[in-house]
Amino acid sequence: MNRNANIARNRVLSVLADGEFHSGEILGKELGLSRAAISKHVKLLGTLGLDIYSVTGKGYKLSQPLQFLQRHSILQHIPDSHDISLEVLNVIDSTNGYLKDKIGDMESGHMCLAEAQTAGRGRHGRTWVSPYGASLYLSCYWSFSAGYQAIGGLSLAVGVALADALEIMGVNTPQLKWPNDLYLQDKKVAGVLVEVEGQMGAGCDCIIGVGLNIDLPENQSTIDQPWTDLAKVMETTIDRNRLAAEVIKQLVASVALFESDGLAPFISKWRQLDLYKDKRIKMTSGNTVAEGIGRGVNDNGGLLVEVDGIEKAFYGGEISVRKA
Ligand code: BTN
Repeated sequence: MNRNANIARNRVLSVLADGEFHSGEILGKELGLSRAAISKHVKLLGTLGLDIYSVTGKGYKLSQPLQFLQRHSILQHIPDSHDISLEVLNVIDSTNGYLKDKIGDMESGHMCLAEAQTAGRGRHGRTWVSPYGASLYLSCYWSFSAGYQAIGGLSLAVGVALADALEIMGVNTPQLKWPNDLYLQDKKVAGVLVEVEGQMGAGCDCIIGVGLNIDLPENQSTIDQPWTDLAKVMETTIDRNRLAAEVIKQLVASVALFESDGLAPFISKWRQLDLYKDKRIKMTSGNTVAEGIGRGVNDNGGLLVEVDGIEKAFYGGEISVRKA
């Protein structure tokens, strides 16, 4: 889409953001666009996952008001925010992809947030559903000078950071599914994708991507697992900018601590929040399938599964609940 069309689409959205009805005719007059152009922009906004009603005689309305992410609002919740390097983007294919393309051109700790992703990436090659304004899509670049051997367990530390951020926001009892999915009330609310670039024996560049569901439109037929969002479990309206600030604070503090002290400072909290502790699970790692009882994590962040009375550690793969 060209730059002018992008600007026009954003102007339409900023009028609709109040969640009230706006007639196509008045919108058009206010923005200097034809009714047909307004209708085209509204359709496009729909393809970005926004829920917009069109009612004859009344006009267009977002199903609920929309709070935009704003860099200055986020930073005002962060003490020492001058140390934070943050870009707030509008629509992007993937925040992880965006940062990956900038490797070599940014400092360790640089972050970006987007309102929507058109090609959000999940773990195991899945797609991360990323409707406009409905979640947090955050990526953080970190360069580990000590190389690959220094990043084992990083994703567990990031999971703990997210749980801490949610607790500070007043969310009760977040849980972690190994290695780093965040669950609330037995449903996934957030996921982490760590992408690593680098060569053996050299420093390594990590892009840490966090997707946190805030208020997803209800009909999500493409999500293939039980999911929830913060709006379903919190009684108060969520301030997205404050939430983003809290996640950023915890993430930066945790990754810096992980870089200096490794996984040790995070292990006991991870074990406390373990969703599958002492539950019957199935672990699939490549061609290996182990069915047994979840026994938490070892000090290196490996998942322990008790199979026929013997504990085995896994460092990659995916857990599912074992069917009886
Ligand atoms: C998972 O599959 O659980 C991991 C999901 C990670 C999604 C986030 S959203 C921000 C960042 N950019 C991406 O393309 N993916 C991650």
